[in-house]
Amino acid sequence: ARTQVPGVQGAGARGAGVRVRVPAKVNVQLAVGAARPDGFHDLANVFLAVGLYDEITVTPADELRITCSGPDAHQVPLDESNLAARAAIALGARHGIEPRVHIHIDKDIPVAGGMAGGSADGAGALLACDALWSLGSSREELLALCSELGSDVPFSLLGGAALGTGRGERLTPLDVGGAFHWVFAVADGGLPTPAVYGEFDRLTEGTDVPAPAADPALVEALRTGDPVALAATLANDLQPAALSLRPSLADTLTAGTAAGALGALVSGSGPTTAFLAKDEDAATRVAEALLASGTCRTVRVAPAPAPGATVVGAEDG
Ligand code: C5P
Repeated sequence: ARTQVPGVQGAGARGAGVRVRVPAKVNVQLAVGAARPDGFHDLANVFLAVGLYDEITVTPADELRITCSGPDAHQVPLDESNLAARAAIALGARHGIEPRVHIHIDKDIPVAGGMAGGSADGAGALLACDALWSLGSSREELLALCSELGSDVPFSLLGGAALGTGRGERLTPLDVGGAFHWVFAVADGGLPTPAVYGEFDRLTEGTDVPAPAADPALVEALRTGDPVALAATLANDLQPAALSLRPSLADTLTAGTAAGALGALVSGSGPTTAFLAKDEDAATRVAEALLASGTCRTVRVAPAPAPGATVVGAEDG
């Protein structure tokens, strides 16, 4: 039986499981620099956490095991390529603990969609195992482990809004002065992030790619909670690459804009597209129009900002 328990300390001692909720993200600005010698790209990546969540439940088990539920569960890898498994292994290795846990992912974030669903599961499993094993790691320790797991994983732990520099893993929290109402159009199939960065390299080859920098007007729009100002400053340098690999996304962007969205862009490396609406009613209208347009598989409406990874309960194993 699932019971809400406010404090989870000691949950491990009882042999119970720990449940963590982790949000998706949209990149309101993704400025991409030239490829570095290590193959990564320097970024100015303004993350905004949105209210679509995966729930990760970790319980003691004989061996490391992952299961997944939700409409897109069949698309989620259940082996050690899953960031949730890698998180449990990495945290265990650091503390000399065999990661004998069953990790269950209740997946609501679109898979391989540019909304950091895999990163969310990594951050969630890390926080859940830390509570299950009563490690009491500091936020800094957890963030450092997150950045080893992937460039977007630290932000999944943090939530809210933040500027990510370096690979996107070095975070500076940003103030958000109000609610923003988003609509997400989920496309058929995913787009592998490395392929989109590869296409960015191909499209920018021989050009002078400027050093990435956050747009002060966008940071100010977040701070004042002004959707019109935020819509005017939305920018994603990966969008031409995502559109090049998936030209049909242009029709989705057009459909959402025609339906009254204030702004539209590809979310991260795509293929999910994101639409900023004036308010909740406008978001509902944009979502209905997108669905009726036949240019996407499904739509989701979500407010922002959303809190980062949070322990929401303990349960009997
Ligand atoms: O860090 P993460 O494992 O999520 O990155 C996935 C891939 O995305 C990398 O292997 C790389 O191809 C690309 N990437 C990049 N520059 C970044 C972040 C990711 O080129 N800053």
